[in-house]
Amino acid sequence: MSNTVLVGAQWGDEGKGKIIDVLTESAQVVVRSQGGNNAGHTIVHGEHKYVLHLIPSGILRRRKTCVIGNGVVIDPVALVAEIESLSGQGVQVDAKNLLISDCAHLVLPYHRLIDEQREIRKGKHKIGTTKRGIGPAYGDKAARTGLRMGDLLDPAFFSEKLQARLRENNSILRALGAKPVSFKRVESAYLEAGKKLAPLIGNTVVYLHGAMAAKKNILFEGAQGTFLDLDHGTYPYVTSSNTTAGGACTGSGVPPHCIGKVIGVMKAYTTRVGEGPFPTEDQEISRMLHDMGREFGATTGRARRCGWFDAVATRYAQMVNGIDTLAVTNLDGLDSLKRIKICVGYRLDGKELRVPPSDNHGLARCTPIYTEMPGWQIRTDKVLKFSDLPVAAQRYLKKICELTGAKLEIVSVGPGRSQTMFI
Ligand code: GDP
Ligand code: IMO
Ligand code: MG
Repeated sequence: MSNTVLVGAQWGDEGKGKIIDVLTESAQVVVRSQGGNNAGHTIVHGEHKYVLHLIPSGILRRRKTCVIGNGVVIDPVALVAEIESLSGQGVQVDAKNLLISDCAHLVLPYHRLIDEQREIRKGKHKIGTTKRGIGPAYGDKAARTGLRMGDLLDPAFFSEKLQARLRENNSILRALGAKPVSFKRVESAYLEAGKKLAPLIGNTVVYLHGAMAAKKNILFEGAQGTFLDLDHGTYPYVTSSNTTAGGACTGSGVPPHCIGKVIGVMKAYTTRVGEGPFPTEDQEISRMLHDMGREFGATTGRARRCGWFDAVATRYAQMVNGIDTLAVTNLDGLDSLKRIKICVGYRLDGKELRVPPSDNHGLARCTPIYTEMPGWQIRTDKVLKFSDLPVAAQRYLKKICELTGAKLEIVSVGPGRSQTMFI
């Protein structure tokens, strides 16, 4: 295995956590390079379910090193809670298996409150954020007014900087009609979290280059998905980081020539949580999946919007990420259908489009052009080999990969490790 970047090829929640957990068997290091605890990556081992928000999904395997890179935004209080919750589930997390970049920016309570207030003010134009403060935290990073993980290691410096930042942010909060944040409370909560995390904080760029020199394989775990990318997604209905493959390099300090492969994870259908255009959204498929108890958000519990597979979108994702191979998850979600639609083009103002328009107004007005394939109407969740899948399912998988423009490498038919086929 070469150093591999794994990205979501749709709007997030493609099953990245499950696939990372499977692939970690042949990697030594797993890196998160962007996003924050807006992510929710689910891993199911028998009766046990783990939902990871900031910690890479490699953490469940022994003798692997997980890294939270410089490009991630971290709420240290939430990170300590995640570590403690994992420890309650029998997973030990300490400096032996988790390293945190000292350059990763902090998410502070005022970021969360500003995120919430901005959403309220947007009314019907709200983004539908996870309210984890992600946008304001990346905003401060770009404005060069952020605090970083490394700052927690110097309490006097941290307190001084926090005081200055609170003066500005509390006046913003007051102007937005929200309560200001107490300096003392934030200072003590963050310094306490900082003390617990201190042994894990350091220069992760140097660690990763050392790991590469020692011929260790690195797996980069993307968060969110291609169409939530700040540059390439359905702006402004996006998150605030680069969720596409390039983000793995900037967010970790590993240069592009060290990346050997890009895997795109996509569901056999499409889901989206939050607002924004979604051309293949379909009420019936949403109802069917929700009635099966599926497609509820791992972070906020919101019901995900569901729709047919959108090959216009995934072909574009293949392009911007340079996806070499595909992991298709949740094939079993389509098991009961008689006919299955695939979107092969968009219609907009009488024209046929093969790539998504870059403006979200245009995308919102696109109507999908569908082709239909027969369903298989038989359960696939116990199938172990591609050749044992119903022929209609094999044809469907080949078709969606051919339309996307990348080779099929992995098929997933259930949340568990064993429900995974390598082609
Ligand atoms: P992520 O954010 O991309 O890691 O995905 P999430 O964990 O938010 O959502 C994916 C959901 O699908 C989780 O509940 C997984 O346990 C589940 N899942 C992943 N692959 C499969 C699959 O092939 N079949 C089924 N039934 N569930 C799956
Ligand atoms: P994983 O890693 C799905 C969505 C939010 C909202 C938009 C902006 O589990 O795939 P933010 O809080 O980031 O400012 O919200 O992005 N969003 C996700 N949707 N999966 C995620 O992560 C998401 N992270 C953010 O719902 O529409
Ligand atoms: Mg998720």
